[in-house]
Amino acid sequence: MNTPKYKRIMLKLSGESLAGEQGFGIDFDTVNRISKEIKEIIDMGVEVGAVVGGGNIWRGRSSGDMDRTTADYMGMLATCINAMALQSSLEQLGVMTRVQTAIEMKEVAEPYIRRKAVRHLEKGRVVIFAAGTGNPYFSTDTAAALRAAEIEAEVILLAKKVDGVYDSDPNINSNAVKFDKLSFTEVLEKDLKVMDSTASSLCRDNNIPIIVFALDEPGNIKKVLCGENIGTTVGNF
Ligand code: GTP
Repeated sequence: MNTPKYKRIMLKLSGESLAGEQGFGIDFDTVNRISKEIKEIIDMGVEVGAVVGGGNIWRGRSSGDMDRTTADYMGMLATCINAMALQSSLEQLGVMTRVQTAIEMKEVAEPYIRRKAVRHLEKGRVVIFAAGTGNPYFSTDTAAALRAAEIEAEVILLAKKVDGVYDSDPNINSNAVKFDKLSFTEVLEKDLKVMDSTASSLCRDNNIPIIVFALDEPGNIKKVLCGENIGTTVGNF
């Protein structure tokens, strides 16, 4: 089970996944653990693009205290902070990385240039796409879907707290049933909260499957990549 099923992937990490138990900010033990898992798949020759959310730093959208656009731009800046933390952690392990930002901030990181991103991937560098899509009203899930389409990633690995997609919330309903496979149409029709609908439709229209899995369990990134059936696969079935 050590042969990767995919050559180029997009890894979507939520901002919260970097916060560890503390639930806020950046917990470097947690980030380093994730980086080690990324290193494992880089060492297997897999090309890795990554999009990180920002919810561990800023959850402005639900605050109601400011307009949506401003809150979204603050969220985009939060993703840049997370991207730099992940970059630093990966580089301490000797993994080459590049951060590319959708909002130009040249002093901080290189701007997003698709062809450059692809060259970085071909050279074995992890490319961390920061600042979302650069636009308000779009989530980092949508950024992951968009960049995945652009760099021609074969799959999106969607790392979550739960180990897949359920028919109801497994934290509330102990009888919740986990799906092994789901179609995008079902996800959209049943309004299952895998990704937001913009991101889901983008993946459906561009035929990019998503594998939802739990990040908390060590070794899961490699398992998913090697085709172990541990989460829920969403695709055009
Ligand atoms: P290749 O030479 O094509 O393999 O790519 P490279 O990324 O090594 O080349 P480049 O000379 O573009 O980049 C060297 C370093 O500068 C890398 O760490 C890049 O991330 C960084 N870099 C490149 N462009 C920018 C930029 O616009 N802003 C910032 N802050 N860093 C940049």
